[in-house]
Amino acid sequence: MYENARMIAIDEKTLIICETDRSGKIRYASDDLCRITGYSQEELLGKPYGVLWRADMPQSVFKDMWETIESGAIWKGFVKSATKNGDYYWVYTTIFPIVSANGEGYLSVRARASDEEIERYEARYAQTRDKELQ
Ligand SMILES: Cc1cc2nc3c(=O)[nH]c(=O)nc-3n(C[C@H](O)[C@H](O)[C@H](O)COP(=O)(O)O)c2cc1C
Repeated sequence: MYENARMIAIDEKTLIICETDRSGKIRYASDDLCRITGYSQEELLGKPYGVLWRADMPQSVFKDMWETIESGAIWKGFVKSATKNGDYYWVYTTIFPIVSANGEGYLSVRARASDEEIERYEARYAQTRDKELQ
């Protein structure tokens, strides 16, 4: 993320929806996801999530996420994601293992995080990242 990255506010009513295959490659992205990240559908389809949107998140969060969803369980947690131009936004993310017409995969539903949650998780994840670097 770049130094002057700005936080994008997510509207209360917005739910960001995305479907991936079992490896995390995007099969469907909602219009809100495109609007917020600044990517078109075409740019997103077939791309792995992580490459596009990695922000300064602790690795252990994604390890927990993958272990949980690969076991067939639902994962919930706070995620900081980058946009195409390097800004970022915070969302409360729920990821469901699914079987759709496209086969097995995952569906993520993301809603805005509150100011208080953002503050709490900025601090918590910064601490976790420091520990991971030691
Ligand atoms: C449905 C789904 C949604 C995901 N959402 C995000 C996300 O918003 N931001 C992100 O950085 N990684 C997300 N990931 C995790 C990435 O696939 C990846 O594991 C993560 O970015 C860390 O990258 P790494 O595994 O290459 O270390 C998601 C994965 C799945 C299956």
